[in-house]
Amino acid sequence: MPAILSYTKNFYLMEDNEIAEIYKDKIIFYNNNLEEVKKQPKLIDLDASSIEKNGYDDFMLKEINEQTLSVRETIGFKLDNPKVYIENLDFNKEYLSSLNKIYIVACGTAMHAGLATSNTFEKLCKIPTLVDIASEFRYKNPLIDDKTLCIFISQSGETADTIAALKLAKSKGSKTLAISNVIGSSITREADVFIYTHAGPEIAVASTKAYTSQLVLLNILAIHFAEILESSSLNLLNSLKQDILLLPEKIEETLKQSENVKEISKQLYKEKDIFFLGRGIDYSVALEASLKLKEISYIHSEAYASGELKHGPIALIEDGIKVISILTDEDLVAKSVSNIQEVITRGAKTIVVTNQDIDKKIFDYVIKIPKTNKLLSPILSVIPLQLLAYYISKQKGLDVDKPRNLAKSVTVE
Ligand code: M6R
Repeated sequence: MPAILSYTKNFYLMEDNEIAEIYKDKIIFYNNNLEEVKKQPKLIDLDASSIEKNGYDDFMLKEINEQTLSVRETIGFKLDNPKVYIENLDFNKEYLSSLNKIYIVACGTAMHAGLATSNTFEKLCKIPTLVDIASEFRYKNPLIDDKTLCIFISQSGETADTIAALKLAKSKGSKTLAISNVIGSSITREADVFIYTHAGPEIAVASTKAYTSQLVLLNILAIHFAEILESSSLNLLNSLKQDILLLPEKIEETLKQSENVKEISKQLYKEKDIFFLGRGIDYSVALEASLKLKEISYIHSEAYASGELKHGPIALIEDGIKVISILTDEDLVAKSVSNIQEVITRGAKTIVVTNQDIDKKIFDYVIKIPKTNKLLSPILSVIPLQLLAYYISKQKGLDVDKPRNLAKSVTVE
């Protein structure tokens, strides 16, 4: 849609295997059996300026900086009345209490959004929550049934593996909920219910603002379910809501680290390998930061759960290697610092993203971000790491928005 938005806002949405015969003044649609199908155009209310760079060098930098707005838009009024945003299905107490598990399925960054929030569903709703890669889920005969709620996340709503996984879940009797950023996208048309993220069009191949919006939305959904289930205290849920409302201004604050991150990028852009470490929710951010870096800078990077260091990866740590750690969980900070000390002893140079009051002298670089509820911390901690990937790619003179071999929507297997 963004490609022709400056010409029209009226779109005909076609289903799989449909055919269109296009004339100067009319279009005729046919189904698979060559029977004519009547379609009404859908008004897609997007502003053409939202797909301009608006003074930024690249879409990625614009989209990183837009996160204050995209998160605000995604929150909208959903905390007051989430039902309005979940089309078609009433998630009532009887249905939610009958669930044996929630399955979150997606690819790439969208899957990382699932990893960063699965614990929130478990903690608030007391429902076991699994996360899987769509291309794995669809071929492993997953243990799901009508007591499983399957949530599919896709920015584009067109990812072939995610859509195939959704169709499989439906065929096994599970309820399917799609989260997408694109109005009318295929996944929203396939799912039993859907919710939009409202991040605005994301043009750069590397996903940034869609990820933070997915995190916000999944947290809101978990709170909504917990309210229906009465599975968490109102105090806890209300304080989380307050923290969600404060996110836009904290994102604004986090973005002020941009110059600091740019300076750090000058020390890193010649590296061949970079390691990311984190525990718990910070590990999910390490995975996302590593994906972002390799995607647009072509630097090989790996993300490890800090506790796994001793089980293999520490063999790779040698003099001068760069290790980036995320430290936002106050209950785990002491353990993570001790892991970082282990790599320092072996000569690593360390960069730390944290909201904790730690002894800065131990590390080579510290990127400080605002405090928030630990379930929400990825929404802030990922931002300096998105910027780091961006500036490293720029230092290397690469095409940030269109990295080699990658497409924005992966519509084939
Ligand atoms: O449109 P989707 O969210 O389904 O896309 C999934 C992945 O292809 C996508 O997140 C990919 O990993 C991004 N390029 C990451 O930046």
